[in-house]
Amino acid sequence: MADLPSYKTPLIVFTSLLLLVILYLSPYNNHNFVINTDFVSSNTSSSSQNPQNFSADSSSSTTHEDKGTLSISSSSTSVNTHIREKLTSSERIEDDLARARAAIREAAQTRNYTSNKMQDYIPRGPAYRNPYAFHQSYIEMEKTFKIWSYKEGDLPLMHDGPHSYLYSIEGHFIDEMENEKNPFAAQNMDDAHAFFLPFSVTNMVSALYKAPSGTRVPYIHVVTDYVRVISNKYQYWNRSGGGDHFMASCHDWAAAVTSETPNQLFKNVIRVLCNANSSESFQPKRDVSLPEISLVTRTLVTSTQSRRESGSNHSILGFFAGGAHGPIRQMLIEHWKDKDDALQVHEYLPKGTDYGALMSKTKFCLCPSGYEVASPRVVEAIHASCVPVIISDHYVLPFSDVLDWSQFSVQIPMEKIPELKSILLAISDEKYLKLQKRVRQVQQHFTLNRPPKRFDVIHMILHSVWLRRLNFRLPA
Ligand SMILES: *[C@@H]1O[C@H](CO)[C@@H](O)[C@H](O)[C@H]1NC(C)=O
Ligand SMILES: *[C@@H]1O[C@H](CO)[C@@H](O)[C@H](O)[C@H]1NC(C)=O
Ligand SMILES: *[C@@H]1O[C@H](CO)[C@@H](O)[C@H](O)[C@H]1NC(C)=O
Ligand SMILES: *[C@@H]1O[C@H](CO)[C@@H](O)[C@H](O)[C@H]1NC(C)=O
Ligand SMILES: *[C@@H]1O[C@H](CO)[C@@H](O)[C@H](O)[C@H]1NC(C)=O
Ligand SMILES: *[C@@H]1O[C@H](CO)[C@@H](O)[C@H](O)[C@H]1NC(C)=O
Repeated sequence: MADLPSYKTPLIVFTSLLLLVILYLSPYNNHNFVINTDFVSSNTSSSSQNPQNFSADSSSSTTHEDKGTLSISSSSTSVNTHIREKLTSSERIEDDLARARAAIREAAQTRNYTSNKMQDYIPRGPAYRNPYAFHQSYIEMEKTFKIWSYKEGDLPLMHDGPHSYLYSIEGHFIDEMENEKNPFAAQNMDDAHAFFLPFSVTNMVSALYKAPSGTRVPYIHVVTDYVRVISNKYQYWNRSGGGDHFMASCHDWAAAVTSETPNQLFKNVIRVLCNANSSESFQPKRDVSLPEISLVTRTLVTSTQSRRESGSNHSILGFFAGGAHGPIRQMLIEHWKDKDDALQVHEYLPKGTDYGALMSKTKFCLCPSGYEVASPRVVEAIHASCVPVIISDHYVLPFSDVLDWSQFSVQIPMEKIPELKSILLAISDEKYLKLQKRVRQVQQHFTLNRPPKRFDVIHMILHSVWLRRLNFRLPA
């Protein structure tokens, strides 16, 4: 393994820096959580503010007033233009990120945003952990973030991916990163704040799968070799030890394929993964949880998205249909299959039943983990304006760095499955309508558009990468 890169540059660890730190709490205990922008030692209003105090209603008037107003920031923290011209590429990159951090910190303190662009959407309300920090961070991302997508490698293992069914987000995301119209694309490598590795683990599995052993060795070879090629050819991987590089995959095995590489090659890489199991290699502070979106073939919509209208009559209390994959679903099926008219749990739907239509008629859509933590039902539920009921262990929910899932979903530990019906019945109509209203509010964040739109799923994924890049500093 002598030909593998070994890093001379000391790696900077998140916790050793006074940077933007994203905190995570366990899925069942995430009240009062904010993006912690407290990276200066002074106490700011952001650390004590309670995001649940701001209702979507009370801020809606602000939303209208703010539309179209211009405001140009005079940032005091950055170096001036004259000095900036003399900076090296990595110094310029770090200067960009320092400006962004300062702007986010200020927005969290002033509880407002600064932008020289019209804001068509202003994130407000309890669905966001810290709406001010998030909004400014999003603005800074649009203003600053530049990504280089490596051109090396051939089809079909690189530069392509699945576009329909369970893993479709992988192919669409790779496409958008490589699209020549991608507004986040860096014009040259020296301008890039982050580097994308455009390989598809799903395509590798399709092309190289060897039955019956199902060994992961061939895929580990491909990703290791890819890093060898780009780290020999360019300086960027060695400069950061991979810390400003990212990859994306929705395949169940992508977490293992990247974590089982020799010499922990991917240990610093930002991995964007559907299989976000924090009890395995997934690290919430470094990795990004990718929403699993099962698309109807040849469309950009899920089976529930086209039926949002019929969702107005939510006459079923709870609904699940699916195989008894894994212990959580087995327990769910054991306790509830065909037992209750209000809480409908099916192992397989009777022929001719319309799954999307049923979800749209349901108040609470059950989203238990299967063989892996992620479930396409979470996004299907959100699209159907159905409140997701997350039954999982160690699942890091998508965008939980900015979204407060407790405000638009119900999270139930596996042990409580026998009490499922009474738990759901105990949720008052008033509480339910609030949850559902916020489900509708976050729908846009789980919507796939080609080309992408502001605040949609592709841009939210990028924002999660951006936040992690803000947490990393290049060695001087
Ligand atoms: C990066 O480091 C590896 C291992 O030390 C070395 O073989 C390679 O040439 C380096 N790449 C560049 C561009 O210098
Ligand atoms: C910050 O606030 C916390 C709690 O509000 C308090 O205990 C702590 O002393 C404060 N620290 C400083 C440096 O003011
Ligand atoms: C909520 O906001 C109001 C002002 O709008 C303030 O008086 C109150 O103290 C806040 N409550 C909390 C818990 O922050
Ligand atoms: C928030 O900022 C916008 C634009 O910078 C400005 O028009 C608006 O008045 C500010 N709102 C508050 C409450 O300060
Ligand atoms: C909702 O659907 C149920 C069953 O499909 C039906 O009995 C009920 O009349 C519907 N309610 C409304 C308001 O449409
Ligand atoms: C998550 O990881 C743990 C530890 O490997 C494992 O026991 C658990 O089954 C995983 N969860 C799912 C749903 O795969």
